[in-house]
Amino acid sequence: MYNKGRIHEAEEASRMKIVLGSDHGGFRLKEEIKQYLIEKGMNVTDYGSFTPERVDYPVVAAKAAHAVADGTFDRGILVCGTGIGIGIAANKVRGIRAALCHDPYSAEFSRRHNDANILTMGERIIGSGLAKAVVDTFLQTDFDGSYHTARVNMIKEMEK
Ligand code: RB5
Repeated sequence: MYNKGRIHEAEEASRMKIVLGSDHGGFRLKEEIKQYLIEKGMNVTDYGSFTPERVDYPVVAAKAAHAVADGTFDRGILVCGTGIGIGIAANKVRGIRAALCHDPYSAEFSRRHNDANILTMGERIIGSGLAKAVVDTFLQTDFDGSYHTARVNMIKEMEK
């Protein structure tokens, strides 16, 4: 098992403060993920949307991304129709490394190599069972550090 030692205990993940957000295209999957995390005893805050009515994804992305960047939350999970728009918008905020992941392998390495702090997914792309596995991996995997730190620091330099 390539990642055994790097997955921390679910208990540690449950102490994490997580913010959720979606537009109308991701509303239903975001609600499912919220329920799933609440049932697991996770510390979850929902920044909306709160209905399936149309809402512009950059608005939700900006609000959630700033709250991750300023340390209010440890991680964010954002959902739109494809996961693309909400991720592009979130990545405009300094300090945010939002990763579009529709499989656990990508989620694992978004954490291990990129220290991603926001996961994005598309409700029109992924089923809820796989999405929950992606979320678990994203929340339970640590950054590898080491030489990956220098690369993440190069990204941080680009933000100055
Ligand atoms: C909304 O129709 C859709 O464009 C949005 O959810 C997202 O997929 C954008 O990237």
